[in-house]
Amino acid sequence: MSMERTPIHVSEAEQARQQSFMEEIRALPQRPETYYVVTYGCQMNAHDSEKIAGMLEQMGITPAPSREEADFVIFNTCCVRDNAERRALGNVTWLKEVRKTRPRLMIAVCGCMIQQPGMAEKILKQYPFIDLAFGTANLHLFPELMLQALNSDRTLVRVSQQDVIAEDLPVRRLRADSAYLTIMYGCDNFCSFCIVPYVRGRERSREPEDILREAENLLEAGVKEIMLLGQNVNSYGKGLEQPCSFAQLLKRLDGLGVPRLRFITSHPKDLSDALIETLAGSEHILPQFHLPVQSGNDEILYQMNRHYTREQYLSRVRALRAAVPGIGLSTDIIVGFPGETEEQFQDTMTLVSEVRYDSAFTFIYSPREGTRAARLPEQVPEAVSGDRIQRLIALQESLQQETLQRFLGMKEEVLVEGLSRRSDKAVSGKGRHGVSITMPGTLTDVGRIVPCRVTGVKNNTLMAERI
Ligand code: SAH
Ligand code: SF4
Ligand code: F3S
Repeated sequence: MSMERTPIHVSEAEQARQQSFMEEIRALPQRPETYYVVTYGCQMNAHDSEKIAGMLEQMGITPAPSREEADFVIFNTCCVRDNAERRALGNVTWLKEVRKTRPRLMIAVCGCMIQQPGMAEKILKQYPFIDLAFGTANLHLFPELMLQALNSDRTLVRVSQQDVIAEDLPVRRLRADSAYLTIMYGCDNFCSFCIVPYVRGRERSREPEDILREAENLLEAGVKEIMLLGQNVNSYGKGLEQPCSFAQLLKRLDGLGVPRLRFITSHPKDLSDALIETLAGSEHILPQFHLPVQSGNDEILYQMNRHYTREQYLSRVRALRAAVPGIGLSTDIIVGFPGETEEQFQDTMTLVSEVRYDSAFTFIYSPREGTRAARLPEQVPEAVSGDRIQRLIALQESLQQETLQRFLGMKEEVLVEGLSRRSDKAVSGKGRHGVSITMPGTLTDVGRIVPCRVTGVKNNTLMAERI
């Protein structure tokens, strides 16, 4: 795979062509009436699903309450770890049975899994009951592919390696109050364990003007929170017409007055002082930071191709905390990377004790075909990794109980997402620091930012009273 693939902005003529396919489908008598999108993986995929739903609705197809009731079911897949992939294919196979009683049911599969080498052949051979499959690079062609699939009895598979930037796709947002906004696509980092650069292509940034225009539209639509998306937002800006760093982009977005701005994901090697300064001086960027560490051991970090040491990581954490006191920190950690010894794993444990995260997403290393780490000789046995992750989770949970105590008695604000799962007289949502908060409330609070005072800590959630 070459590093020099040039990104292509989808032209307005091409957009118009796709628009006409959506209208054509709308007029087709044999088109599905209802759809259901099943999403696996990260926020990037969740946002792609919103675009798929947006396009389907322009085809006149409406959401079904469940996948069992839908005429068209589309699986937006992830392949970052083996279990994500197995779950997706398991569910697709289950639908094959459902179709026996519902011959009209149409099944599509898209997303990162489809971009893997050999996948097109695998689908045609092992899953011939799928009507349509396409990769992440072909998302903007969905209307055209859908029309072709509707007019054919055979499985249609479309995968390409082109790095595209597609503006102005219709979006049907999952939430009215909080919105995703992609600022960059792809990744150039090639961490040795990771499949993402292979399935999402080379890193490419959207023009700041396009991003600002989208943010303004969201603000006008009443959105309270924007979550900026990119695999490595800190390196935003490569290949733009006019140079613009992530810190500069954030400053401009901050000026629009969106009540809450968040972003994921940051790479420690690209976390600049300018960005930390911007955070400290901002009104709307929330005091929270997701900073994946992956491991606390220098040799493992080197093998992972992460380009930072434990000490460099810790110094970034110190800088963040000095600039934004009380900032909410979260991370991603992998255990059982090839060759990881018990001693090296202990370095991850001590790092976690030292940093004291508000939350940590922990994963057992999963070999991904085509990545460098998958070819390393000393793969760690599952039983060993399983034992390590349990110890890590136990440590994180016990530390979290203490870390979250710092919020006791503090004023916070909650963007209310819905009724609490435990009681219909309580609501919950995220506070400014990224921690879940539950407090008394009703359905009328949903989508509003409500001030509160923290009164207790229960597992990973804060309890609060309204003020
Ligand atoms: N671009 C983001 C997200 C990448 S995927 C980032 O760099 O943080 C999210 C997380 O999945 C990663 O941070 C990593 O912890 C985990 N992950 C990726 N590949 C993995 C693999 N092969 N096995 C286990 N965990 C993996
Ligand atoms: Fe994967 Fe690393 Fe890129 Fe994140 S930064 S998507 S972990 S290659
Ligand atoms: Fe999965 Fe693709 Fe995201 S592999 S984690 S859905 S970028």
